[in-house]
Parts: sequence; C-alpha cells; structure tokens
Amino acid sequence: MDRKKFVVELKKQTENSEKIVMKYLPDPEDKLQHSVMEAMNYSVTVGGKRLRPLLIQETYRMFRGQETFVEPFMAAIEMIHTYSLVHDDLPCLDNDTLRRGCDTTWKKYGDAMALLAGDGLLNYAYETAMKSFDLIEKEGSAFEVSPETEISRYQSCAKALKILADKAGIFGMVGGQCLDVEAEKQNLNLSEEELLFIHEHKTAALIQACFMIGGVLAGAGKRQIERLEKIGYNVGVAFQIRDDLLDVIGDTETLGKNVGSDEKDGKQTYVTLHGIEQSEADEKKLTEEALSLLEGLPGNHEFMEELILSLLGRRK
Ligand code: IPE
Ligand code: IPE
Ligand code: MG
Ligand code: MG
Ligand code: MG
Repeated sequence: MDRKKFVVELKKQTENSEKIVMKYLPDPEDKLQHSVMEAMNYSVTVGGKRLRPLLIQETYRMFRGQETFVEPFMAAIEMIHTYSLVHDDLPCLDNDTLRRGCDTTWKKYGDAMALLAGDGLLNYAYETAMKSFDLIEKEGSAFEVSPETEISRYQSCAKALKILADKAGIFGMVGGQCLDVEAEKQNLNLSEEELLFIHEHKTAALIQACFMIGGVLAGAGKRQIERLEKIGYNVGVAFQIRDDLLDVIGDTETLGKNVGSDEKDGKQTYVTLHGIEQSEADEKKLTEEALSLLEGLPGNHEFMEELILSLLGRRK
C-alpha cells in the first residue's frame, strides 16, 4: 500500500473507530451520578490516537470478520486504556497535568472524581463489551442465523472477554504499573529484565489484547492467536520504547503531554538504561520482528503492515 493511500485510509479508519467509541459512552443527562460520567466522557473524548480500537478492527478484518459484535470490544479497550491513563496521571502515580492536549482528569475534576472516573471506565468497559451478546442475539433473529453459528459467536465473545480481563489485570497492565511505580518510589535499580517486564506488562499487554481479540472474534485458530500475541508483544514493547524516547526528544505541543515527565519523577526508562541510539535500534528491531510474524498470517495485511510501520519513529 503506498504511503498516500495509507494516510487517507488511516484517517478514515481512525474516524470510524472514534465514532464507535463515542457511541458507547454513558449519557449523564438527568442522572444524579452525572459527575462521574462527565469525568469519564471528558477523559475519552478529549483526544487520543485510538490505536487500540483500530488494531482490534483491523485484525478482525484481516481474518475476514464482518459482524458488528466486534464494536463493543473496540469501545471497551479504549475505555480500559483511558482509565489506565487517568490513574497513571494521578498525583500519587506520575503526577502529570497535561494529557491528550488538555488538563488531566484529576487536574480538571480533582483527585477523588478522577479516581472514580477511572473505576467507572474500567467497569463500564466490561458492561460495554458484554453488549456484544445483545448484538449477536439481534443479528441472529434478523438474519436467521443458525443456532450453531450463534453459539460459536457467543463462545468467541467469552474468549475475548477472558483475554481482555487477563491482559488488563495483575498479570497484565496493572502488574506492569505495580513494578513501574515501586521502582520509582523506592529508587530501585532496575535490571534490563525488570524494565522489559514493566514495558511488556504496562503497555504491550493491552496491545496484545487488541490483536488477540480481533483474531478470536473472527474465529482465528489457536496457533494464529499465539502468533498475534507475539506480534502484540513486539508492537507493544516498541511502542513503549518510543514513548520513553518521546519523553526526552519529543515536543509537548505535538505530543499533547508534558515532555520530561519521566525525568521529573526520577523514572528509569528504556532511554536511561540503554541510551537514545540503542533504544531506537531496539524499537526498529522489534517492529521488524512484528512485520515478519505478520507475514505468516492469512488475509490481506497491507494496511496492518503500514500501521505498524507508522508507529516506528512516531512523533506523537
Ligand atoms: C500512552 O498511550 C500510554 C502508553 C501506553 C505509552 P497512547 O500513546 O496510545 O495514548 P493516546 O491514546 O494516543 O492518548
Ligand atoms: C503508561 O506509561 C502505561 C500505562 C499503563 C498508562 P507512561 O506513564 O510512560 O505513559 P505516559 O507517558 O504517561 O502516557
Ligand atoms: Mg506511568
Ligand atoms: Mg505517565
Ligand atoms: Mg511515558
């Protein structure tokens, strides 16, 4: 796929993902608990690349998925990702004031409401993902889908829910954040292995979930899911290496968050451990590995290839 065509297609796909995410946000109108919903909606709508829903959709499409029950999962992953950012920015964690080009949620609504908005987004993500059941039922009766197909769709959704829960929790993103914050607060000297554990868990886990959920919902086999998990590892760790790099060499305007935040917190990052040059080389190597793993998968991966490549050396 040539670059120009990719840029046009990326814009279209991102807008589509964004529309789907917005559709599933809660409506605060006339609710006594509207404040928490407003803080949730603010955190999601304020911006972001929407990379994770995009990855789910594109993997789903690659495996010839054509149903709408993928959509609640696209919204759910963005809610979980956004909650992780809302909590990550809190004064007790990274203490940041700028996110997605605007005030962080705690800066705008206070710590307590930001904490609750994160809780709300996490739980609402599962409430949302389970709306896929309603879509299966609705499509089942509208198009006279066979009971076998309907059951297999429910099974795929159950598997996708398990992946979402596993990759977001203590054996995934939360586990990575645990070591990240402990290392910072206790001034621990991280080994290369420990830093890689942090990057794999705090960031790659949710990205792995995207590839795997897209595959599972489209009926990909066990071997293919394992391959998707490896692709997610490579893309995810490369993504966090670039995030660490951007904290040093990026600019606040483009990034929408404050540069120098890691240094301010005295955080050890891929850059403090390996230096800029080695970090860039490793980011490239991981990306190339992801692309060669992608080659072994069925379907048309032209867009996915360009998408993964576009993350290499990104500026935001
Ligand atoms: C930021 O993620 C946090 C990391 C895991 C590095 P993104 O860079 O995807 O943030 P948004 O969604 O575009 O704001
Ligand atoms: C983010 O890591 C990982 C999360 C799970 C939120 P960072 O703390 O480096 O992310 P930014 O730089 O604040 O977006
Ligand atoms: Mg952090
Ligand atoms: Mg942070
Ligand atoms: Mg960072």
